[in-house]
Amino acid sequence: MCQPLHFLITAGPTREPIDPVRYLSNRSSGKMGYALAAAAAARGHPVVLVSGPVSLAPVHHPAVAIVRVGTAEEMYQAVAAKIQQAQVVVMAAAVADYRPVRMAPQKLKKTGQPHLTLDLERTEDILGSARHPLGFRGLLVGFAAETERLEESARDKLARKSCDLVVANDVSRSDIGFEADSNELLLVFRGGEVRRLPKASKTELASHLIEVIEGLAISAADAAPASHE
Ligand code: PMT
Repeated sequence: MCQPLHFLITAGPTREPIDPVRYLSNRSSGKMGYALAAAAAARGHPVVLVSGPVSLAPVHHPAVAIVRVGTAEEMYQAVAAKIQQAQVVVMAAAVADYRPVRMAPQKLKKTGQPHLTLDLERTEDILGSARHPLGFRGLLVGFAAETERLEESARDKLARKSCDLVVANDVSRSDIGFEADSNELLLVFRGGEVRRLPKASKTELASHLIEVIEGLAISAADAAPASHE
């Protein structure tokens, strides 16, 4: 065990409204992110869990504070408000990359046309904003949800978003990734090392991942210049 670290973890999907009754979203259940929050708290770390809309029971642990959000913009604002107090940020949420430019004020009606076109715009890149403009200097862990070339995509994200670690999972399989109780992870570290965590429950993998992050925190503290006060 290492000293308690302040974790900020994102989990679940976001919902980007089209009209008052419809939205764009994805299949994230929140299980991976909630398992990480529970594992971190069980190992003595205080956790802020920023959660998109999920139907999971809250993590019942006094060290876990849940902030509930709906849209990518709300998730960005919640992360921005909490990130300066965090030492470790883990982004396991499946944030929508696009949202409708405008939310229709009333429920959209069917028209006589066979097609309907939605105008979409990019959402905030929360992971990509952590270092700049949000100024986060602690351990940054991103996830990569991929259907092909996991390692290559993870390396690319790691470099572009200045992460210390990117955790890639294959979301083309029905037995792991989205919604499933199990997962299989490929860990790509900033130094170039790659580690595979074979298929296991999200609970087991989360514990393992928190231990890996603790190891990174200990190495970073050892590498920091000693104070001469
Ligand atoms: O919730 P579960 O059903 O348990 O499923 C778990 C999971 C598959 C959702 C999870 O393990 C996972 O892979 N989460 C990341 C999903 C994702 O959106 O991946 P991405 O490759 O599109 O995004 C890369 C990273 O950028 C992620 O850390 C994501 O949180 C972050 N991101 C993405 C878009 C955006 N606008 N802002 C972000 O911060």
